[in-house]
Amino acid sequence: MLRTTRPHRARKVLLITTASVVGVVTLALGVVLTVGGIFVPATYLQPWAASYSAQFEDARLKVASQALLAPSGHNMQPWTITLDAADSDVLYLFADPTRLSPAVDPLARQLLVSQGTFLEYLSVSAAHLGYAATFDLFPNGEYDETDLEASMSVLPVARITLAADAQAVAPDFDALFLSDTNRAPYTDAPLTATQTDQLTALSRDGATLQVLSAEQDRAALAAFGVEGTLIETEFAAATAESATVFHSTEGAKNDARSGFAVEGQGTSGFMKYLLQGLITIVPSLNGEEAGAKSAIAMTQAGVDHTAAYGLISTAGNTRTEQVQAGMLFAQFSLRARSLGLVMQPLSQVLQEYPTMAVPYQAIHEQYAPHGETIQMLVRVGTPTVEYPTSMRRDATDLVHIP
Ligand SMILES: Cc1cc2nc3c(=O)[nH]c(=O)nc-3n(C[C@H](O)[C@H](O)[C@H](O)COP(=O)(O)O)c2cc1C
Repeated sequence: MLRTTRPHRARKVLLITTASVVGVVTLALGVVLTVGGIFVPATYLQPWAASYSAQFEDARLKVASQALLAPSGHNMQPWTITLDAADSDVLYLFADPTRLSPAVDPLARQLLVSQGTFLEYLSVSAAHLGYAATFDLFPNGEYDETDLEASMSVLPVARITLAADAQAVAPDFDALFLSDTNRAPYTDAPLTATQTDQLTALSRDGATLQVLSAEQDRAALAAFGVEGTLIETEFAAATAESATVFHSTEGAKNDARSGFAVEGQGTSGFMKYLLQGLITIVPSLNGEEAGAKSAIAMTQAGVDHTAAYGLISTAGNTRTEQVQAGMLFAQFSLRARSLGLVMQPLSQVLQEYPTMAVPYQAIHEQYAPHGETIQMLVRVGTPTVEYPTSMRRDATDLVHIP
């Protein structure tokens, strides 16, 4: 009798212990996922829906609501628009001086490049709607550089006119809705001659695009990418600036709808909620040291698997040229996606703070020998993984009523 009861009891204890462990782990996972926001609707992704623009009657808002899908430095989306009260075909784009990133972008150059990305996306959206969008850059004059922020508030970057145009074509329209930036390693497949030619042909007045695939260029530009990242991770003001705009919960992302989040590291789905929960409960997992290590590792892994680099340069470095460079970058990024490619800017080495001065000068000596300014350095290739879309503001939040 006793002989049969003991194993039975042991089995029961084992069963209870297993059930308890499974129960505790499930509960803990439930808590982490709930903290990570698994039950919170991601309103910050709404603008990515192709139907999002349909809620707006005004064509200017329709196109602005798709233009805001454009990439921007630190995803700050530094855009304000005003709708001309007297002319329903006209709107104005202003740079938003409350959305500067002074540590990494002390001259607000990238902020102006990010005005160009908005304009290019807007023109693609307009063409799809049957309009030609024309841009008059700095129609009321250039900024007063001695009082830049005040100037940005009152001087538009562009007067935008929409005119019905039956011939308007938007070959890259579908690419508007694909994630912009892919920071993962790419396949080692080289760009085809057709891809390279189609991309290089995008160079336009004011800004030039070079696509470089030669072994020595890839090695040199990879080294600049890694060196720039290393220097930036040692620049406390830059890491603090990024940390300020990093949002680790769905609630915070719904509030901010700009800046960085775990999607920027390629995390999506279940893993997104798990990671967000973990870093909210244990913030040191995403602390300065961990962030620096992961930035360096990601850059190294990325440049180790990069088929080509794009360099966008301008003859001078005026505000107008910066905007034109942004337009070319956006067109490059959209066309790349239409061709099945993806890209990631590596901007660190082009940033104008003192500790970056040596590699900044070196890359310019090597790749801008006639005194041009390199506005964008971008890695390009065939994706190994799909990247999730990132936060975007609501279109109505961009509208400023003067
Ligand atoms: C001027 C400019 C500079 C950028 N620099 C970098 C960069 O150095 N590294 C990077 O990974 N992404 C960079 N980006 C991409 C932005 O971080 C990205 O557009 C933004 O976070 C929104 O994400 P998404 O493009 O995936 O939608 C840059 C974009 C612009 C327009």
